[in-house]
Amino acid sequence: MTNTELVEATIDFVKETLLDAEAGHDWFHTQRVFKNALLISKDEKVDVLVVSLGALLHDIADSKFHKGDETVGPRLAREFLSSLEIEEKTIEQVCYIIEHISFKNNIGKKNNTRHPLELQVVQDADRLDALGAIGIARAFHYGGFKNRKLYDPDIPPNLNMNKSTYKNSESPTINHFYEKLLLLKDKMNTETGKRIAAQRHDFLLNFLEQFYAEWNGDR
Ligand code: ADP
Ligand code: NI
Repeated sequence: MTNTELVEATIDFVKETLLDAEAGHDWFHTQRVFKNALLISKDEKVDVLVVSLGALLHDIADSKFHKGDETVGPRLAREFLSSLEIEEKTIEQVCYIIEHISFKNNIGKKNNTRHPLELQVVQDADRLDALGAIGIARAFHYGGFKNRKLYDPDIPPNLNMNKSTYKNSESPTINHFYEKLLLLKDKMNTETGKRIAAQRHDFLLNFLEQFYAEWNGDR
């Protein structure tokens, strides 16, 4: 199989597997991350096949939709990739990305410059989709999916979360902006990622400013 054929086969597999996924982690999220990853890759010396397969398979089985089990994603990816004619080394690199991309596994860490560049690119691409207009849409969608409040002035954001409190958090969706989304800008790995994140970060700040003004009946 050519690289293009491998990517196309993977797209078909992911579309099929994510048919019933929650809208913030569905095929369209994967497709946006794939596009972001290709854009960032233009400025980085990376193996584009590893980046492509990593981006396409990164949410194939998110642990929060599998009772917290973090082994399902890499296992499914490995099973699928093994069914194609593909080098073992490439499979290893792709599974490494799926295992290490998650925000909750990186809480308290500034960035991942010691990780392979292919992981850094896919991680930036995934983080960009948590920012900007799409980031806001995804956050409120996820909050609705979990029946969370939009905002509650009496529940302050928890800025000292560890992996367990983050996973079990039931706080209002606005808090998620302070607990995760606004922290992403300073965790970006690549220069292209940083530049796009800065613009999307400002969009979040503008949104919050308008949100509070409306909440308080100021304008
Ligand atoms: P990761 O998979 O990198 O650990 P998450 O899956 O927790 O990160 O978050 C992915 C996206 O899901 C977030 O960017 C956000 O859009 C949404 N999300 C996750 N947790 C929350 C939450 N508590 N409130 C609102 N949105 C959330
Ligand atoms: Ni993702």
